[in-house]
Amino acid sequence: MGLTVRPVGGEFGAEIGGVDLSRAPDATTRGDIVAAMDRYAVCFYRPGRAMADNAHLVLAKSLGPMDATPVFKITGRVKTRISPQLQDVANIDDKDELMKEGSRVILFRRGDRLWHCDMSFHPNRAVYSLLSAHEIPPEGGDTEFTDLRAAYDALPAATKARIEHLVAVHSIWYSRAAAGFPEPTAEELESRPPTRHKLVQTHPGSGRKTLYLASHASHIEGWPEDEGRVLLKELKEFATQGRFMYRHSWRLGDIVIWDNRCTMHRGTPYEDTRYRRDMRRATTREAAVSA
Ligand code: OGA
Ligand code: MN
Repeated sequence: MGLTVRPVGGEFGAEIGGVDLSRAPDATTRGDIVAAMDRYAVCFYRPGRAMADNAHLVLAKSLGPMDATPVFKITGRVKTRISPQLQDVANIDDKDELMKEGSRVILFRRGDRLWHCDMSFHPNRAVYSLLSAHEIPPEGGDTEFTDLRAAYDALPAATKARIEHLVAVHSIWYSRAAAGFPEPTAEELESRPPTRHKLVQTHPGSGRKTLYLASHASHIEGWPEDEGRVLLKELKEFATQGRFMYRHSWRLGDIVIWDNRCTMHRGTPYEDTRYRRDMRRATTREAAVSA
């Protein structure tokens, strides 16, 4: 039997199943996953138990090129808990203990509670994120997604015309500051300078137009900063209305795959200094990464 695709509602969000994705997918399955992603933008797979890191990486690599090196530095972070090729999105330190209130890493993680796409602060954008649930808290910690192609389609024609050629500037340190992360250190700033991306893009897999927005976007190139900030805020508010959203309630072992080129997501709160939440992310890129 081939890949099954069960939409969660309309044209945004689907559950995929019917095949064992803990083995490298064959060409047909790979093509079916990409087709489902191009249509629904967020797909989840629910095997019932956590996938091993190696299998997670094999699945991600079958869908596109991946990072060879970390894309930024957090001062003081020791990262030995899981494979360096996976993003550690957990609230657990390298001694397998809950992180403490005020730790730089937990403050950094809370930045994920603002609407964003992954890695818009990098010139080589993220395509798919594959987030795998190894431990989930008893309450809270859902993840919300919003459909930026549908949001673009629903914009008034005058807004579409106004934003067509604009370029936004994105920085990881901008979004962290907005979420209460302290002043970045010199080594943090140097590890990932800002970058720029068009605000309206054509999604390669579907040919549909989409907004390309994130909490990382600080202003519009060539515009006074405050005006750009207002526009970005208005677009973000428009694009995150309930009618464009899917909310994922995690079960142990779930892998959610989202397309960062046409969606935003955010983590919802949970008691992160009380309950363990062990999530691990593999991220594919638009272009191969050499170093
Ligand atoms: C991510 C992310 C949100 C969450 O892994 O990129 O934003 O709910 N996660 O863990
Ligand atoms: Mn994210």
